[in-house]
Amino acid sequence: MEETTRQIAREIDRRRTFAIISHPDAGKTTLTEKILLFGGAVREAGAVRAQRAARHATSDWLEIERQRGISVSSSVMHAEYDGVRINILDTPGHHDFSEDTYRTLLAADSVVMLIDAAKGVEPQTRRLFEVCRMRGLPIFTFINKMDRAGRDPLDLLGEIEEVLGIEAIPVNWAVGSGREFRGVYDRLARRLLIFAGGDHGASELEETEIAGAVDAPEIRAAMGPEADPTCEALELLDGAAGSFDLDRVRAGKQTPVFFGSALTNYGVRPFLESFLAIGPCPGAQISATGPVDPVETPFSAFVFKIQANMDPDHRDRVAFVRICSGRYVQGLVARHPRTGKSIRLAKSTLLMGRDREGVREAFPGDVVGLFDPGILRIGDTLCEDGQVSFVDFPAFAPEHFRRIELGLVARRKALAKGLEQLTQEGAVQLFRDADASSATVVGAVGPLQFDVLKHRMAAEYKVELRLTPLSFTVARWPQAGFDPDMVRHSTMTRLVFDRDDRPVILAQSQAFLDSLVARHPELELADTPDPTLFQRTRSAA
Ligand code: G4P
Repeated sequence: MEETTRQIAREIDRRRTFAIISHPDAGKTTLTEKILLFGGAVREAGAVRAQRAARHATSDWLEIERQRGISVSSSVMHAEYDGVRINILDTPGHHDFSEDTYRTLLAADSVVMLIDAAKGVEPQTRRLFEVCRMRGLPIFTFINKMDRAGRDPLDLLGEIEEVLGIEAIPVNWAVGSGREFRGVYDRLARRLLIFAGGDHGASELEETEIAGAVDAPEIRAAMGPEADPTCEALELLDGAAGSFDLDRVRAGKQTPVFFGSALTNYGVRPFLESFLAIGPCPGAQISATGPVDPVETPFSAFVFKIQANMDPDHRDRVAFVRICSGRYVQGLVARHPRTGKSIRLAKSTLLMGRDREGVREAFPGDVVGLFDPGILRIGDTLCEDGQVSFVDFPAFAPEHFRRIELGLVARRKALAKGLEQLTQEGAVQLFRDADASSATVVGAVGPLQFDVLKHRMAAEYKVELRLTPLSFTVARWPQAGFDPDMVRHSTMTRLVFDRDDRPVILAQSQAFLDSLVARHPELELADTPDPTLFQRTRSAA
């Protein structure tokens, strides 16, 4: 094996690229911060939050984020822990959704699902989980806030299995909860970890480790009054639950479960170490011609996110690419199969919040931001030898729709340009009515995107965009058996066309569509233009 190939193989092996999914307030920011803290990427707890606050304070077009106190855009963070390179893909942690959130999951090799011990599986987690499942992504579960009174851990496991339909196998088990939360018993390594200190991150965490079976006298002694309930629960689990199976974890059929408290640090390190040990490294991504070997194939990457005008001082546009194979070096000349052009990747950056640092070299699993003069689109492939073409990205069905009030727009050209740019970024989807030549309807996964759209159209394109709410809540792409007459005379639906001129049915309710399909059994509807894309973007490995 050549030295470069060996280096690439080594670098891939030590990389973990993942996203954390959760419902707002479950503790994603806190856990992210703690992981970065362990990795030495931030010096003190509170830094991620502070950085977000700073970004809110300084970023111009993200004014809307500041107004609402939320993060609309997602970025990438990285850290090193024990020789492992950690890439955390940040997804927005608020109630609203954008396609951006979903697409970020397409760039991850695994996912950490964070659950609030008092609340269990919440709606947003469920939705994000669905996307992970469609991709067959390995999912690791961290049950957070064990330092507070929460629900019975056995109940929580039952809920994960029932609601999400995935087998939940506790790798470690909480010893006590609320004020009595004192440690975790590691079922795989057969050891007890008892915590002290931590003090909500303010003081150093003390960890005592004792090896042995859960009912060994020294372990029982260390668990104190929690010994009986812990032993009982573990006995029950040993008898009833399945056992940890790495192949099933990698296939996304089983989720290893960890208990802890991100705030007090209790259980974070054991979770992180297990996750880094058993979490997958970057694997083969699927291209139009089959899986792309990350080591043997020269540099290849796909664009999963584009963000324009991030920095108000520089009218720049950054394309976030996930490297899939080979080695990226600054100045590399890559082919861009969609246009047939060659592009010199001279200016790249790693982003951490608003801080940027130049990137000279990067490997599969890494995400780099490329300054883009306007050539790249979401879903595009870049590759050294011109042979690779990653399959297109799935579009997600919007759930909110607005009519664009064209009559009120003075600057038509600027409007078209702005809409094109924001569609390319994947913020919104445009549709046109059958008799219109340009977009008449705009759809988004989350309604906040309309505010972002209006704000950005005004700030960047000087267009006052007027949008009128439409009462549709569902968009479906007919796949077979469709005749426009089926929806022509109904006020409950509207037939529109997407930017690739595919027919799309907008409906006021799913129930209406169900009755339509009941009346026309030959009609097949999909919630994305090409429903097989999800499976195809994921390696069979
Ligand atoms: P998010 O990104 O998922 O939205 O959640 P975030 O980390 O911002 O946490 C939401 C709230 O939950 C924060 O409290 C945070 O301190 C708290 N929290 C996170 N992890 C734990 C935990 O393990 N135990 C307990 N008890 N609380 C936790 P806040 O009061 O909303 O904000 P702050 O004033 O602490 O910043």
